Amino acid sequence: MPKQVFAELINKEQLKPDIFKFSVKAPEIIEGAKPGNFIEIRITDQVEPFLRRPISIYNMDKDTGVLEFIFQVKGKGTKLLTRKEVGDKIDIIGPLGSGTFKYDKFNNIAIIGGGIGVFPLYELAKCAKNDGKNVNTYLGFRSKDFVVLEKEFEDVSSNLTLTTDDGSYKIKGFAINLLEEDLSKKNIEAIFACGPLPMLKAVQKLALEKDIPCQLSLEEKMACGLGVCLGCAVKTAKSPKDAPEYWHVCKGGPVFNAKDVEI
Ligand SMILES: Cc1cc2nc3c(=O)[nH]c(=O)nc-3n(C[C@H](O)[C@H](O)[C@H](O)COP(=O)(O)OP(=O)(O)OC[C@H]3O[C@@H](n4cnc5c(N)ncnc54)[C@H](O)[C@@H]3O)c2cc1C
Ligand code: FES
Repeated sequence: MPKQVFAELINKEQLKPDIFKFSVKAPEIIEGAKPGNFIEIRITDQVEPFLRRPISIYNMDKDTGVLEFIFQVKGKGTKLLTRKEVGDKIDIIGPLGSGTFKYDKFNNIAIIGGGIGVFPLYELAKCAKNDGKNVNTYLGFRSKDFVVLEKEFEDVSSNLTLTTDDGSYKIKGFAINLLEEDLSKKNIEAIFACGPLPMLKAVQKLALEKDIPCQLSLEEKMACGLGVCLGCAVKTAKSPKDAPEYWHVCKGGPVFNAKDVEI
C-alpha cells in the first residue's frame, strides 16, 4: 500500500553535471516495495510545480531503511529538486505501480537498459543475483560522457556488456545487437528492459520474434500518478482497432509483459 512520507535526505551525490543520486530514509516505503516500483515526489510546498514527479526506485536497503533514487535534470521540477540539501525533508509517496519485475520463474535472465532507463534495473539485478539467478546485463549509452553506474552494475551482474553508440567507450553499437547475438548462445530465458522508446520497441520486437518472455518498464508522461487522469495511457496489444483499450502505466505498470502492450 503506498504511503506518504517526509523522508530525510541523508546523502546527495552528483554523478554527472545533470544527474543526481539522492539517498533518503524511508523505511515505510521500502517495506513492501519491489524492483520496478516507483515513487512520486512533491518538489516544493509552493503551488508550482503542482504535480508530483515520478522517479524510479534505484536501490533499497531493508536493514537501514535507506531508499535511493537517481534523476536527470529535465525541466522545472527536477531542477528545483537539485536544490534540496542533506537534512531537508522530501515529500514522497510510494511504493507505486502494481506491475513490477517478476524474475522468480527464470534462472538465466538478460537485463537491458539504455540512458537514464538503467536506474530501475539496478534493484532488479541486485535482487535477482542475490536470489542465485544468472544475470546477464546489457547497458547502452550515447557516448562515454553519458556512462553511469558501470561499477555498480558490474557488482550485481554475472556479466556486464556495455556499449556506446559512437564507440567512445567499450563496445561500439547498440546493446540490443549484443543481446541478440547472445540469446541462443547463452540460453537466455527472459528479458527485462527499461530505456528510451526506440530501444524498448526493438527489444519488444526481438522478444516476440524469438518467443522469449519479456517485461518492459515504460516511462510515460504522468500527471496524477494514481490512475484517475488518463495522462499515462498505453494501448493494450489485443484491443480492437475501433474500440482501443488502455492500461494506466502509473497503476497497472510501469512494468508490463511485452506481448500485452502496443508501444
Ligand atoms: C514510472 C516512471 C519512472 C521514472 N523514473 C525516472 C528516474 O528514475 N530517473 C529520471 O531521471 N527520470 C525518471 N522518470 C522521468 C521523470 O519523471 C521526468 O523526467 C520528470 O517528471 C520531469 O519533470 P520536470 O519537472 O523536470 O520536467 P517537465 O518537463 O517540466 O515536467 C512537466 C510535466 O511532465 C511530466 N513529465 C515530463 N517528462 C516526463 C517523463 N519522461 N516521464 C513522466 N512524466 C514526465 C512531469 O511529471 C510533469 O508533470 C520516470 C518517469 C516515470 C513515468
Ligand atoms: S498519471 Fe494519471 S492516470 Fe496515470
